[in-house]
Amino acid sequence: MTKIVILTGAGISAESGVPTFRDANGLWEGYEVDEVATPRAFHARPDVVHAFYDARRAALEGVEPNPAHAALARLERTLVDAGHHVLVVTQNVDDLHERAGSSRVLHMHGQLRSALCAACGERTPWTSALAHGPKCPVCGAPELRPDVVWFGEMPYEMDRIFAALDEADLFVSIGTSGAVYPAAGFVQYAAARGARTLELNLEPSEGTHWFHEARHGPAGLLVPEWVDQLLS
Ligand code: OAD
Repeated sequence: MTKIVILTGAGISAESGVPTFRDANGLWEGYEVDEVATPRAFHARPDVVHAFYDARRAALEGVEPNPAHAALARLERTLVDAGHHVLVVTQNVDDLHERAGSSRVLHMHGQLRSALCAACGERTPWTSALAHGPKCPVCGAPELRPDVVWFGEMPYEMDRIFAALDEADLFVSIGTSGAVYPAAGFVQYAAARGARTLELNLEPSEGTHWFHEARHGPAGLLVPEWVDQLLS
């Protein structure tokens, strides 16, 4: 039985038209991270933070999964049917892996199409805006916030992610700059526990030297090629 853990970042959704964070025209180019992606920013200027995430949630309506998402879904279907393990750990807050057909996906940085109640802590699937202060369907408090992990907050699912990395035979990182921890450290962690490691990214990431192998180019080409190779 083979166990594969695949880490994805903004680069896998770039060809779908979802902006990355750190490339030219990336999301952080027009914003200071401190203005929109910290609990302090939300406390100080909730209107600005809500407008930022409401716009990104609305933009999901107009995008579709690309061949890289589809290839990972095909990999999962084929290998899981044959008794192997495939887990996607994504830093992305879009839902393109799920829309492409992947079912084993952990969103370590949360999801745009989910709202988190700051009063009761419950999560609710959410596809519309939050800026107007809708009530939490569970407790009724008008305290819903984007269910995304901000800088200074603990990423989700860390226990399950490290348990999967502990057992992985292969760790593959796709479309991430390697600039943000803890995800940037997964390659070293997995390699130290015996996994082979592969990077698929447009250009060398900040941690490219940690991987056993790195292939550089657009995910829409590299990922289907890699999946074909693995399944052949
Ligand atoms: P980044 O914007 O930091 O990095 C995107 C990476 O994808 C870069 O290395 C690009 O070269 C690469 N890339 C761009 N287009 C690509 C393509 N077509 N095919 C393959 N690779 C491509 O995004 P992340 O690494 O995902 O966190 O950023 C990590 C975290 O930083 C995000 O989850 C977010 C951000 O701050 C939070 O908001 C908590």
